[in-house]
Amino acid sequence: MSQLDEVVGEIADEMRRHTDRGDVASYIPELARVDPGAFGLAVVDAEGNVAAAGDADVPFSIQSISKVFTLTLALGKAGDRLWRRVGREPSGSPFNSIVQLEREKGIPRNPFINAGAIAVTDVILSGHQPREALGEILRFMQALADDPAIAIDRAVAASEQRTGFRNAALANYMKSFGVLENPVEFTLGVYFHHCAIAMSCRQLATAGRFLAHLGRNPTTGMSIVSPERARRINAIMLTCGHYDGSGEFAYRVGLPGKSGVGGGILAIAPGKASIAVWSPGLDAAGNSHLGRIALEALTKRMGWSVFGT
Ligand code: DON
Repeated sequence: MSQLDEVVGEIADEMRRHTDRGDVASYIPELARVDPGAFGLAVVDAEGNVAAAGDADVPFSIQSISKVFTLTLALGKAGDRLWRRVGREPSGSPFNSIVQLEREKGIPRNPFINAGAIAVTDVILSGHQPREALGEILRFMQALADDPAIAIDRAVAASEQRTGFRNAALANYMKSFGVLENPVEFTLGVYFHHCAIAMSCRQLATAGRFLAHLGRNPTTGMSIVSPERARRINAIMLTCGHYDGSGEFAYRVGLPGKSGVGGGILAIAPGKASIAVWSPGLDAAGNSHLGRIALEALTKRMGWSVFGT
């Protein structure tokens, strides 16, 4: 058993004993049905070895973690022109905030707050039917995770489509500034559905490997993005990946990371590993409470923080 296997097993045991797990998201009704006691952790190292524990093979709703992959696709399509539609500064505001949009003329602060991710989805959608754009996103996830079984949870997507009034407000507001090119309902439909992709920690950690290894899957050799683009996506994850909790995440964990309200976090230890953790209870900023604690323990024990041990 490797040191990594041991550490991952220890952390999963420790997390099982935690009583303070945060609150499961309920503003998307379907997410409120998830078991708050679930915990999964999967780490894929540079050689492709997977250390996994707990519910690492149980699919969960990846929600905002999908935004890392839609950003990757939109950069592939639009290149640096993407940055005319969305900024790359931390917002210091909650993920669904509308306040900055008025001051900044409908240009969202970054691609990870909801407004920014909706603008990114609109870029992927342009020139396609919603079904085609969604198929492209799903196939990208399946290829990265090397698993064609990955699917969208239609019940979660429908649940958000029925209740996503804030996102509809953000999208309409951006549309009024000409930041969205497509009909608002089409862009929102694709956005809700890519957020509703269900993946396990093992699949997600596998999908994130290119970000840990200069844009390339080190096992297959397949290049996904240039080293420069991988570095930049990691930078945005570090500064914006946890919304107004990004500073705290950098302080405690010290890795680029992206959270989702399903309770997942994808974290990247550059050159070393791709990590996915899942615990559905959230903190006040909407990030996984135990997920962050588990990652803090992992980076400390493995010496993986990008800021030194
Ligand atoms: O748009 C929403 O509100 C959700 N589909 C995604 C939000 C999310 O995951 C925020 N992350 N912590």
